Amino acid sequence: MSKTLTAPLAPGSVIGILGGGQLGRMAASAAAELGYHCHIFCPEENNPASEVSKYYTTADYDDEAALAKFAEQVDVVTYEFENVPASTAAFLIERIAVNPGPKVLHICQNRLREKDFCNSIKVPTTKYAEVTNRENLDRVVRDMGRPCILKTTEMGYDGKGQVLIGPDTDLKEAWKTVAGDRKKAETILETLVDFRMEISVIVARSIQGACQTYVPVENRHKNHILDQTIVPARISQKISDRAEVIARHMAEEMQLVGMLAIEMFVTTEDEVLVNEMAPRPHNSGHWSMDACVTSQFEQFIRAVSGLSLGSVYRHSDAVMTNLLGDDVNGWEEILSDPSAKLHLYGKSEAKPGRKMGHVTRVIPRK
Ligand SMILES: Nc1ncnc2c1ncn2[C@@H]1O[C@H](COP(=O)(O)OP(=O)(O)OP(=O)(O)O)[C@@H](O)[C@H]1O
Ligand SMILES: [Mg+2]
Repeated sequence: MSKTLTAPLAPGSVIGILGGGQLGRMAASAAAELGYHCHIFCPEENNPASEVSKYYTTADYDDEAALAKFAEQVDVVTYEFENVPASTAAFLIERIAVNPGPKVLHICQNRLREKDFCNSIKVPTTKYAEVTNRENLDRVVRDMGRPCILKTTEMGYDGKGQVLIGPDTDLKEAWKTVAGDRKKAETILETLVDFRMEISVIVARSIQGACQTYVPVENRHKNHILDQTIVPARISQKISDRAEVIARHMAEEMQLVGMLAIEMFVTTEDEVLVNEMAPRPHNSGHWSMDACVTSQFEQFIRAVSGLSLGSVYRHSDAVMTNLLGDDVNGWEEILSDPSAKLHLYGKSEAKPGRKMGHVTRVIPRK
């Protein structure tokens, strides 16, 4: 029997979070404001989330003894990292409510399932096809036409595990980039979208089925990593409304309890296509901490704990910039601008490309 949460958790309850990164850290801080305690379950010691949480467990995601103990010590489980093994969620759900539930996790862990799900509920995506071995690739690329993108179906992030197939790309090399030396692997080939803009929408859904969406935002990447989020996205009201309708529809069809961040393309033809989604707060929602009545982290905690959702009223527009690697050394200068809100994640080593913090410049709305 799987467990579900049917009533709000009282203050003082313990929220278990799988994963210990900055998303967990900011979620744990939001939980603390609501009087909850957090228990971080993460394989790495000294992670950003444990530092601000009352309890933590350092163990692998397949350590059943540690998971069983964790389940006994928490009142609900959620995750800030969706690539936990499916068996971890299955093990936990027998013992304690997990929000968002295993069905949502299952869809969001795999690019093919994400796109199949979208199409099953008539949400448009780019054209795509499954490719399971090197020999198939030639045929599928021929059928689909170039340019296209080959991606791993699982575990990709920040553009890792994907390769653009242009007019001259050698398919042997392309396969190797994504699948390494394996002859067989589950990959997805997508047509390259001619997009005008990348946007994202964050939607939360409560145990009572109420939905709230944050305004669609515009995302700009550098070296495949999110660089800036501009709020709101510079798109027409019509496109903005369509993006929000898609987000709500997806949350409802998934019977989501928690949060879903959906990355979308606005094409040069003004279509809105879903690219991918994550069942948790998202880097492109960090601006909400400083520009909305309820931040994405508070909303996430409210949703997974069975509380009613907070207002997403946006009192300010915003530009959020990620601080990657050495960017963090500019902290003093950033702080000298009074409209800049600095958030640092407490990571000790500023490796290139590592997300060390972010800064949000707020622009109060008239
Ligand atoms: N089909 C596509 N057409 C055009 N551009 C694409 C397509 N798929 C991916 N991209 C580009 O590559 C970027 C990264 O792709 P995607 O979001 O699918 O992967 P990811 O590795 O999970 O990224 P992240 O973790 O940063 O969200 C996209 O933001 C977009 O700029
Ligand atoms: Mg992405």
